[in-house]
Amino acid sequence: MNQRCFNYYHNNLVTERPAAEIRIFGLGEHFKHAYSQLRATLRSERLSLAKEQMVAQIGAGLMGLLTLALALGWMAWRALQGLFNLGDLAMFWAAMNQGQQLMRNQLTGVSDIYRNLLFLEDLFAFLDLKPLLVDPAEPVSLTPGLAHGIQIENVTFSYPDSDKMALEGFNLAIPAGQIVAIVGENGAGKSTMLKLLCRFYDPQQRRIAWDGVDLRDLTQTALRQRITVLFQQPYPYHNSAADNIRFGDMVNQPTQAQIKAAALAGGAHETIDKLPNGYETILGKWFGYTELSVGEWQRVALARAFVRKADLVILDEPTSAMDSWAENAWMGRFQDLVTGRTALIITHRFTTAMQADIIHVMVGGRIIESGSHTELVALGGRYAQSWEAQMRETGRQNKDDKIGVLV
Ligand SMILES: Nc1ncnc2c1ncn2[C@@H]1O[C@H](COP(=O)(O)OP(=O)(O)OP(=O)(O)O)[C@@H](O)[C@H]1O
Ligand SMILES: [Mg+2]
Repeated sequence: MNQRCFNYYHNNLVTERPAAEIRIFGLGEHFKHAYSQLRATLRSERLSLAKEQMVAQIGAGLMGLLTLALALGWMAWRALQGLFNLGDLAMFWAAMNQGQQLMRNQLTGVSDIYRNLLFLEDLFAFLDLKPLLVDPAEPVSLTPGLAHGIQIENVTFSYPDSDKMALEGFNLAIPAGQIVAIVGENGAGKSTMLKLLCRFYDPQQRRIAWDGVDLRDLTQTALRQRITVLFQQPYPYHNSAADNIRFGDMVNQPTQAQIKAAALAGGAHETIDKLPNGYETILGKWFGYTELSVGEWQRVALARAFVRKADLVILDEPTSAMDSWAENAWMGRFQDLVTGRTALIITHRFTTAMQADIIHVMVGGRIIESGSHTELVALGGRYAQSWEAQMRETGRQNKDDKIGVLV
């Protein structure tokens, strides 16, 4: 169990899937601490075992060599005395073989040490790597809240080692206190924009500003504490249901009541309440016996996003795994939930986007249309075409989950 726990912490710290959540929620220290403690225990156990084995192996090796030396010495003495016979020759041959084997074992140990020393070079090269994102020497400290809004100003970005532009001359205003929706086809660059807002990457050209301050002038921690995110692929923590939500705000350590309120807001309370140990049930099969469905995990992740009282709430496909009944109920509550905060919702579903104050349609790394649902339908552009296609399909609405998706 200890080893499995160790692997779990290791996965959380070094694999790609949880990386964004670990950074935005500042969970690195938590898992690093748990990992280090467990590693210390496992290492001292392994070391004492290895020491015992090593002493036994070296002792046996030395004993073998000593016995061999004595046998050879005795045979040499016999040869000098002229008493060497066929039996002695056979014994000499066996002793030589045995000696070779012993020497080989000892040399293998030496070559293992040499090989491990070579890997150490890789380790030191890794430790020398410099982070691509650095905090400014004199960071600007923001006043609490978001007063005016966030401005993405003519930003251009391509992923490292990629020739393709993910965002090109990209402009977007997220006014304080409003709900902004982004709709767009697969690969349009919606999640990429989210990653830049969280400063997982810096734009190659121009800037993103929080109340007029370039994100590069803030510390990463200060910026990320102002933001909460539901990622497109939320990470299922194999911890208790309560911890899964608590991880959204490790700084303020939410109370049980706040955790329950967040679960209610994310639509996860009913699911959690039915679990064998309620909020203390360990989720997932690594350490427990309870598995949730994709939609249920998504609700738990929504609760995690809501438990943090951040100025900016970003939701990447919040309703993608929800059935249409749950989506309607949830959207009704969402507007109340974000009152006084600023929200950015990335979605394929028009039924979700319709609730926003302003909708932007994104194609090929650019915004091509903006407005309220009514304005965009009246405009007769890409949004209107997709909306009309949806209307034509109304008959299928109750059967087909994909209704309301940008086409
Ligand atoms: N880590 C990455 N490295 C390199 N290229 C990437 C990476 N992530 C995304 N891309 C590329 O950037 C482009 C935009 O991807 P992005 O994930 O932002 O799209 P999206 O609008 O969120 O799509 P979807 O609706 O499918 O979620 C795509 O062409 C994709 O191949
Ligand atoms: Mg995406």
